[in-house]
Amino acid sequence: ATERTFSIIKPDATRRNLTGAVTKMLEDAGLRVVASKRIHMTREQAEGFYAVHKERPFFNDLVTFMISGPVVVQVLEGENAVAKNREVMGATNPAQADEGTIRKVHAESIEANTVHGSDSPENAKIEIDFFFKPEEIVG
Ligand code: CMP
Repeated sequence: ATERTFSIIKPDATRRNLTGAVTKMLEDAGLRVVASKRIHMTREQAEGFYAVHKERPFFNDLVTFMISGPVVVQVLEGENAVAKNREVMGATNPAQADEGTIRKVHAESIEANTVHGSDSPENAKIEIDFFFKPEEIVG
């Protein structure tokens, strides 16, 4: 079924001027960008977004990285969008990512890994609602 997922083009990618290159890979995978905005997250926003990882040893570094520069938050729509996006992103650790995936091609490290994508339809809804008002999403 047609569904929506949430994506972030991370600071390592915006710094290297890869917003278009990453978006092209998402579109080539069959996903449609139905909302998009470039923002510079506050520490509070990043901590709130990644609250599920609060107890992880990498939490503080992750938050600091995510506010180190602008990001592009997007809503992606398509057939099985959550799974499709995870497939085109590749594994979290670029060293383990399949050939041709966004992280294999572009990521610098497990932290500076170019993109975030929702891991389930339930989390997609929560993450979309965290950054977008309904009227900002145009399908
Ligand atoms: P993301 O999908 O944005 O969700 C949590 C992020 O934590 C993950 O991508 C990684 O970029 C980041 N991260 C940093 N260090 C680690 C680690 N050791 N294990 C898993 N994720 C990590």
